[in-house]
Amino acid sequence: MSHSADSVLAPGAANRRTRSFGSTLAILWWSAIVGAIGYYVHRDALHYLFDYTPVSFKHFWPERWVIRSHIALAMLMITSGPLQFSSWLRRRHATVHRWSGYVFLSTACVVAATAMYMGLHPVEGDVVYGVGLFFNAFFFLVSASIAYYAIRTGNIQVHREWMLRAFVLAYAGLVIVRVIEDMSFLEPLIGAVALNDLSTWVNWTVPLMITEVALQVSRMRVRTNVTA
Ligand code: HEM
Repeated sequence: MSHSADSVLAPGAANRRTRSFGSTLAILWWSAIVGAIGYYVHRDALHYLFDYTPVSFKHFWPERWVIRSHIALAMLMITSGPLQFSSWLRRRHATVHRWSGYVFLSTACVVAATAMYMGLHPVEGDVVYGVGLFFNAFFFLVSASIAYYAIRTGNIQVHREWMLRAFVLAYAGLVIVRVIEDMSFLEPLIGAVALNDLSTWVNWTVPLMITEVALQVSRMRVRTNVTA
C-alpha cells in the first residue's frame, strides 16, 4: 500500500495494522525460540533418554541418573515455559496456564538442583566453566522461587517479570550456552578453553541484563503514559 493511502486510513484501521504487525513479529520471535529449543533437545538431549549405553553417555556415565533426571525434567520444563507467556491462553484457558505454571516451577527445582550439583562437578570443562553453570542454575532457582512467591501473594506484575527472568535463565542453560560453544570460529582467536569458559558466563549474564533493560524501559514508558 502506498504512503498516501496509509495517511488517509481511519485510526481504527491503522491500530489494527499495527497490532497485526506486532502479532506477526511475536509469532516469528516465538517460532525462533521454540525452533532453537527443538534443535538442541534433538541434537544433545534425546540420546540420554533413548540410548542407555556408556557410548551415548560418555563421561556422564558415572552420574547417569543425575543427568537423566536433569534432562527428563528439563525437557518438560522448557516446553511448558513458552506457554506461560501466551496472553491468549492466560485469558481463555486460565487452568491450562495455571497447571503449566506448576509444571514449570516444580520441575525447575529438580533441574536447578541437578544443574548446581553438576556445576560443582563439571565433566566438560574446568572450574570456571562449572561455576558459571552453577550460578546460572542458582539464579534460575531464585527467580522461579520469587515468581512463585509473587503469585501466591497476588502480585501479578511482579510474578510475570520473575517468570520472564526464570525463562531467560532456563533458555540460557539449554540454548545460548550451546550457541556460544558452537562458535568454533572464535577458537583460533581465544582458544578452546576460553571459549568453553565464556559460554557458561556470557550465556546468562548478557541475556539477563538485556531483559532487565527491556523491563525497566517498558516500566518507564507505562509511567510516562500514566502521567501524560
Ligand atoms: C537453568 C538452566 C540449566 C542449567 C543451569 C543447566 C546446567 C547443566 C549442567 C551443569 C550440566 C553438566 C555440564 C558438565 O558437567 O559439563 C548440564 C548438562 C546438560 N543439560 Fe542442562 N542445564 C539447564 C537447563 C537444561 C535444559 C532446559 C535442558 C534441555 C533438555 C538441558 C539439557 C542438558 C543436556 C543435554 C546436558 C548434557 C550435556 C551435553 O551432552 O551437552 N539443560 N546442564
